[in-house]
Amino acid sequence: MSAGDRPGGLPGDSAPGGEAIEIIGLRKAFGANEVLRGIDFHVRAGEVVCVIGPSGSGKSTLLRCVNLLEEPTAGTVRVSGTEVTDPDVDIDAVRRRIGMVFQSFNLFPHLTALGNVAIAQRKVLRRDRAEAERIARENLERVGLADKVDAYPAQLSGGQQQRVAIARALAMGPEVMLFDEPTSALDPELVGDVLGVMRTLAEAGMTMLVVTHEMSFAREVADRVVFMDGGVVVEEGPASRVITDPQHERTRSFLARVLDPAAARVGEGEASDRFRSSDPGA
Ligand SMILES: Nc1ncnc2c1ncn2[C@@H]1O[C@H](COP(=O)(O)OP(=O)(O)OP(=O)(O)O)[C@@H](O)[C@H]1O
Ligand SMILES: [Mg+2]
Repeated sequence: MSAGDRPGGLPGDSAPGGEAIEIIGLRKAFGANEVLRGIDFHVRAGEVVCVIGPSGSGKSTLLRCVNLLEEPTAGTVRVSGTEVTDPDVDIDAVRRRIGMVFQSFNLFPHLTALGNVAIAQRKVLRRDRAEAERIARENLERVGLADKVDAYPAQLSGGQQQRVAIARALAMGPEVMLFDEPTSALDPELVGDVLGVMRTLAEAGMTMLVVTHEMSFAREVADRVVFMDGGVVVEEGPASRVITDPQHERTRSFLARVLDPAAARVGEGEASDRFRSSDPGA
């Protein structure tokens, strides 16, 4: 079954419970800098796994290795049973099965929402205009933007633009969706709509691997949470346990930072440590 056979992009076609993403001994180095140092975990079909961890821990690199935007240095990645790290793999065919949503929406400014969702379907999947636009409308409706099909990106809020980007990914009929901090560029009041769409997708059975700093989303929607630090998985488990009862000190100190609203405003890491130690009452 290829993504192209699934024009509606409806989730849940993979057998529930099968492995949708398998990551085995994954390593990635940029020159001398080993960013991923042996990552092992899997995402079952229909599961939502959230990846959390400090800045620079390798979360984006991990997602980018899953769809080969970065070439792993070592290890194996399988998506729905296909080894994407096989040197002979058809990279374009693999990417068609994987939807990716980034922090920045990267919409074409000269195309409407409809045009933005239709264009890759036409160019990559070779759908004709009428079919691509029909599927674009369906998916814009699915993300709550039925009334914005003719709007240009500049006429949309950041949250609406991100929902167009999600519709664009869904319209390709992916088997899994990767999200890399999809709400971190948004004004706080716009975050909820995007998370709401992601929650609906999860409830519909979409397999999702989500890098996020939204701990309430992770707690409520994720089946499992993976905490990364320094290029390794420090701990993983049910969201309820990793977030409310972390076993490792590194997880505890990270969560203390992101769950503290004052620290969250200035971000993680050194900046927030300085902020917190300089004036605890601020
Ligand atoms: N293309 C690249 N070339 C060289 N180094 C890179 C490249 N991409 C990432 N890195 C390095 O890899 C490390 C991990 O980066 P990555 O973007 O995966 O972290 P992250 O966990 O996603 O961080 P953030 O929370 O800030 O997004 C960083 O030290 C970064 O500088
Ligand atoms: Mg990142």
